[in-house]
Amino acid sequence: VVVVADPLPETVLGPLLGHDVRFCDGSDPSALKEALGDAHALLVRSSTQVDRSVLAEAPYLRIIARAGVGLDNIDVEAATQAGVLVANAPRSNVLSVAEMTVGSMITGLRNLLPANAALRSGRWDRGRYQGRELSRSTVGLVGLGHVGTLVAQLLRPFAVRLLVHDPFVSVHHAASVGAQLVDLDELLAQSDVVSVHVPRTPQTKGLIGERELRLAKPSLLLVNTARGGIVDEGALNAALKEKSIGGAVIDVFEIEPAIGNPLIDHASVLATPHLGAGTREAQERAGREAVTAVLQALAGHPVPTAVNPPASHP
Ligand SMILES: NC(=O)c1ccc[n+]([C@@H]2O[C@H](COP(=O)([O-])OP(=O)(O)OC[C@H]3O[C@@H](n4cnc5c(N)ncnc54)[C@H](O)[C@@H]3O)[C@@H](O)[C@H]2O)c1
Repeated sequence: VVVVADPLPETVLGPLLGHDVRFCDGSDPSALKEALGDAHALLVRSSTQVDRSVLAEAPYLRIIARAGVGLDNIDVEAATQAGVLVANAPRSNVLSVAEMTVGSMITGLRNLLPANAALRSGRWDRGRYQGRELSRSTVGLVGLGHVGTLVAQLLRPFAVRLLVHDPFVSVHHAASVGAQLVDLDELLAQSDVVSVHVPRTPQTKGLIGERELRLAKPSLLLVNTARGGIVDEGALNAALKEKSIGGAVIDVFEIEPAIGNPLIDHASVLATPHLGAGTREAQERAGREAVTAVLQALAGHPVPTAVNPPASHP
C-alpha cells in the first residue's frame, strides 16, 4: 500500500502500477493518520507534516519519500527511531537552480526588470538602463558543490574569469571547471558578479556580512539562489541603500514568505519567491526519484537517496 499525500505529476506514478496506490490530503492530519493505518510507503512533497504522532499511526510504514530536497516537514529522527527510511530527491533541481542563476545574472547586469517597469509606466528611457556584459567579466562562486559546479559549466561559453571560494573542494576540481580557488576576501574584492551556492549551516549564516560587502566593487551584482541568511540581510540592505554595491538577485530570504522584506523594494534588486526549483522538469524529476526510492524500499533493495541509516525493524 502506497499513500500519496501531496499532489504529484500523474506521469511519475506509472511505475507504481501493481501496488495499491491511495491518495489522501496530507495537509489534514486525521486523514493522513487514517490513510497510513495499513500503508507500507508514503510519498509527500512539502505540505504533509510527518511527526511522531503521525508515525505512531503507521505501524507497517517502511519508507517516507519526499519528492523534493528539504526535509523540514519530516521528523527524520522520529522516523529513524521508528525504523522508517526517509529519502529525498537531492539532485532533482540542480539544473533548474543553475539555469536560473545564470539567467538572472544577465537579467541583473542588463537592468532588464527596471527597464521593463519603466516602459510599462510609459518611459522609453534607453540611456538610463545601459548595462554590462557577462562575457569576460570576473565571476566569483561561493560554494562549488552540485549547483556551483553546474553554474561554472554553464558559464563556459561566456569566457568569464572564474574565481571560487570553497574550503572543501580540491584545486583539481576547481581547475576542471576552469576556476581558480581563492579566499572569500579576494573573491569579493575582484568579482563583478558573486553568486552564493553554499548550504545554510551555523558556519555559513552571515558568511557575507557588512565587512565582506565593504570589500566589493561598487558595481558588484550579488546573486543568492542558495538560502536566506547566508548573506546578512541587514548588511545587504544597508549596502544597497548606500549604493556601495551595484545590485542583487535574491531568490531566498531569511524568513519566507518574504512579504514586507525591505530588500524587495530596491530598484536594483531582482527578487523572486524561492523559484530556483520551480520548473516542471525539476518537479517531475523529484517525483520520479521519490517513486524510485519507494520501489527500492518495497523490494528490500538499498535506497541510495535515503538520508537516515537503514531501518532496523524490531
Ligand atoms: N533556490 C532554490 O530553490 C534552491 C534549490 C536547490 C538548492 N538550493 C540551495 O543551493 C545551495 C547549493 O546546493 P548544492 O546542491 O550545490 O549543495 P552542495 O552540498 O552540493 O554544495 C555546497 C558546497 O558548499 C561548500 N561549502 C560548505 N561550506 C562552505 C563555506 N563555509 N564556504 C564556502 N563553501 C562552502 C561545500 O564544500 C560544497 O561544495 C544550497 O544552499 C541549497 O539549499 C536552492
